[in-house]
Amino acid sequence: MNLAVIMLAAGRGVRMRSAYPKLLHSIGGVPILQRLLNTVNQIKPNQIVVIYGHRGELLKEAFNSSQPPLVWVNQKEQLGTGHAALQALPWLNAEIDKVLILYGDIPLITVETLKRLLQETEKEAIGLITTELSDPTGFGRIVRNSEKKILRIVEEKDATTDEKCIKEINTGFFLVSKQHLQSWLPKLSAQNVQQEYYLPDIVAMANAEKIPITSVSPSFAWEVMGVNDKIQLAKLERLHQEALALRFMEQGVTLLDPARFDVRGDVSIGKDVVIDVNVILEGRVILGNNVVIGPNVYIKDTVIQDGTRVFANSVIESATIGAECNIGPFARIRPDTVLAGHVRVGNFVEIKNATINSESKINHLSYVGDASVGQEVNIGAGTITCNFDGKKKHKTIIQDHVSVGAGTQLIAPVTIGENAIIGAGTTITRDVPSHCLIHNRIEHRTVIKQTDANEELK
Ligand code: UD1
Ligand code: CA
Repeated sequence: MNLAVIMLAAGRGVRMRSAYPKLLHSIGGVPILQRLLNTVNQIKPNQIVVIYGHRGELLKEAFNSSQPPLVWVNQKEQLGTGHAALQALPWLNAEIDKVLILYGDIPLITVETLKRLLQETEKEAIGLITTELSDPTGFGRIVRNSEKKILRIVEEKDATTDEKCIKEINTGFFLVSKQHLQSWLPKLSAQNVQQEYYLPDIVAMANAEKIPITSVSPSFAWEVMGVNDKIQLAKLERLHQEALALRFMEQGVTLLDPARFDVRGDVSIGKDVVIDVNVILEGRVILGNNVVIGPNVYIKDTVIQDGTRVFANSVIESATIGAECNIGPFARIRPDTVLAGHVRVGNFVEIKNATINSESKINHLSYVGDASVGQEVNIGAGTITCNFDGKKKHKTIIQDHVSVGAGTQLIAPVTIGENAIIGAGTTITRDVPSHCLIHNRIEHRTVIKQTDANEELK
């Protein structure tokens, strides 16, 4: 089978009340169009055609370098879903024999359901995904005869009172041969309440030609739910997050509250991981075995190895974290930070573009940026790497076994040799040799103010 996918995305999406096309809005941190592409690419279509329209240029720009490449077709006037599908026909490659048409505002369809549609629709038939809803308001209804054979689809606005009582709805997925589409789409009429060319009318045409019509139903109701406004977008976001949380729990992850856990990207989690409430994982995140994440933690594009604990209210971005580290509470790990194993980063510590080697500790109120820190280094509270001279960033190198006293400023570029000890309150402006003790704290002097002294003498 040579399959093409046609995605209808030219609708105005007025109810979104947004300056951006609907398919640029995200669910789980992934734009709707990207989500649909990720799903349909798994059924390996030979071609993907996107019908765009209103503000669709923005969509086209965002997905211009999409792989495999997309065929973009502009539907200049939005005359209905049937008219939209018709625009794709001249662009279909010669070898295409089957076409899967889907509506771009149904983002959570799963590849399993699409595969079932492909498998269960016989060669000559047309295949639909339908489902029963307790409240079918707004959807096209599936009209069957007494033998349960599908006859046609009627839109809510055109339905009789009896037809409105039908609970089975059209979800908007059609598997049709190219040949049939070429014959039926040009024959659609807009003689209906909305004066639109309805794609679902091809079902009645199939029936008239005695073409069999198959239907499959989705495994989950959320797979076929649409996004028409921000309320539905938020609902689908929740349903998607719930489904992801369930999947992680099935894999053995302990989520203290699955309703307060958000994944916005591509996340992989090892064994015996415990995640507290209000944790957000974004982008590409990998958590090793036995990792513990405290409450209110944000982690983006980061790898965390086995046994590391991240305590409450920490923020970690684009970092590589070794095994058995302790981070936070209230730590901020910024991009290009590499922590080796057994490192401790405590509260109100900010680290940026720095490598911290094993067994080192930065426990309180420090800034370490553009630095390389050796093994078993202890950085005292309130230490600052002064990396910026107003024009350029400079590097601080702290070699193994150094002890930096509290309240130290390291004016970069500077190197502290191994085993050096820096006294508290020192401002380092030059390199420090190995094995030295250094301090430049000013002498402690007590001056009694004359007036106070006189007062005391009285
Ligand atoms: C449509 C179906 C309805 C089904 C429902 C499922 C029709 C006539 N009705 O209704 O049977 O139950 O979806 O959610 O098909 N689009 C274009 N060009 C157009 C019009 C629409 O590309 O001229 C695109 C939209 O961007 C959207 C999709 O087609 O992605 C569906 O259009 P929409 O107007 O949302 O149809 P519904 O009223 O939801
Ligand atoms: Ca819709």
